[in-house]
Amino acid sequence: MYNDNPTIPTLGKEIDESKQGQVFFDGQKSEAKKHFYIESYGCSMNFSDSEIVASILGEAGYGPTRDMDIADLILINTCSIREKAEYNVRRRLGVFNRIKRERPGIMIGVLGCMAERLKSKLMEEEKLVDLVVGPDAYRDLPNLLAGAEDGDKGINVLLSREETYADISPMRLQSNGITAFISIMRGCDNMCSFCVVPFTRGRERSRNSFSILAEANELVERGFKEVTLLGQNVDSYKWENPETKEVVNFAQLLEMVALVHPDLRVRFSTSHPKDITDEVLYTIAKYENICNYIHLPVQSGNSRVLKLMNRTYDIEWYKERVDSIYRIIPDCAISADIITGFCSETEEEHQDTLDIIEYSKYTMSYMFFYSERPGTMAARKYEDDIPLEVKKRRLSEVIEVQSKISAESNALDVGKTFKVLIEGNSKKSDLHFKGRNSQNKVIIFPKVDGYKPGDYIQIKVDKVTSATLLGNAVV
Ligand code: SAH
Ligand code: SF4
Ligand code: F3S
Repeated sequence: MYNDNPTIPTLGKEIDESKQGQVFFDGQKSEAKKHFYIESYGCSMNFSDSEIVASILGEAGYGPTRDMDIADLILINTCSIREKAEYNVRRRLGVFNRIKRERPGIMIGVLGCMAERLKSKLMEEEKLVDLVVGPDAYRDLPNLLAGAEDGDKGINVLLSREETYADISPMRLQSNGITAFISIMRGCDNMCSFCVVPFTRGRERSRNSFSILAEANELVERGFKEVTLLGQNVDSYKWENPETKEVVNFAQLLEMVALVHPDLRVRFSTSHPKDITDEVLYTIAKYENICNYIHLPVQSGNSRVLKLMNRTYDIEWYKERVDSIYRIIPDCAISADIITGFCSETEEEHQDTLDIIEYSKYTMSYMFFYSERPGTMAARKYEDDIPLEVKKRRLSEVIEVQSKISAESNALDVGKTFKVLIEGNSKKSDLHFKGRNSQNKVIIFPKVDGYKPGDYIQIKVDKVTSATLLGNAVV
């Protein structure tokens, strides 16, 4: 998702602005005769899907490359969540089209949510696109590619009620070898009135628990230290074992993954305030390796607006969930998604959003101004009547309050010692490592002999900036 304020750490499920469009590459020389180049946009789900696509293409004889100039196939995995997301994709398609004019032999494919939303219209609008493939149709890629090689344009945007790609082992192209995503469900049944996801990703379905555990085990064997379980609404995970008829819920799945290995950190995203149960909270509290961090999007601090958004909770319910989190997991960090300037939102209602940031003490938030999406309930029923400059002014006020609350939260960490998973060099200095604590805060510290990425280390925080903790090892 687009973080409109990249100064705030972008963690959890969300993929930060600097990674949007990142190219996948496994770092190894590919023996394949043909090569694909893939750029990914949007949320972690899309980045995770690109790894599934890479695996499917690998079977079809295509190897990955980060060099567009040698690619036989250029793919773009797209996002439709806000107008700006689609605008960015169109801009990239313009670049790819220029390349295709120079090298007419290459194929260009559009994958993901924008492919699903626009379907054949996309091919009419973008004449040089050869393939349009929706999120549930990636198994059909080799077939569509074969047709496209013969000059046929290929499209498959069928949504499925069953597809979870459970048996596909994702090709970890972009991986640091330490942290990985595991997709546990697909689609969304919630129908929030502003949101395009139910239309682009279809009905909610949960993946076989055993295949999730097998993927986690395989990652541990390969030396990975952290997994993030992904779904649009993880709390409604529900898988029925077809043989025993036993049902696995999200709390049970979390426990099963936590038991895979005590050194494997477990994160998850996204939780829906209406569905997160005390059972989930007690499970987090029970296992040291389940991280004390919950992404709990509030969207608005006002009950009337929440009702218009069809979020199905009111702000009292939300506050009760926040209280329960802090009661059951006292050192838990909470983050949120927030939308400003939704249809008919008043200044007083906007003030309620500023208040809920203070109340919930989010360590960070992803903040957006409302962007009407064609076909959604809000687009059909409500007028998009808040002027852009008002939406933007409210957004900057939300960002300001959140920055203050983030800074206060960071200040409280000075003097505390955290167990940090080392992820690699800090961006700014090779003499420093970067890692995260359980609460998903980034901590930068000077390197220590004998420690390498993938190790856990105790770090005492002695300074903070607005977005980062700085510390030293306690060894
Ligand atoms: N499934 C997750 C989030 C999915 S989309 C959840 O329910 O929380 C990620 C975020 O994008 C949403 O939480 C919302 O804050 C934002 N978003 C979605 N549609 C939007 C729109 N039309 N305009 C602005 N922001 C939007
Ligand atoms: Fe969209 Fe709501 Fe589903 Fe999240 S829960 S993906 S915001 S419809
Ligand atoms: Fe994700 Fe964007 Fe689709 S946020 S689900 S890639 S619309």
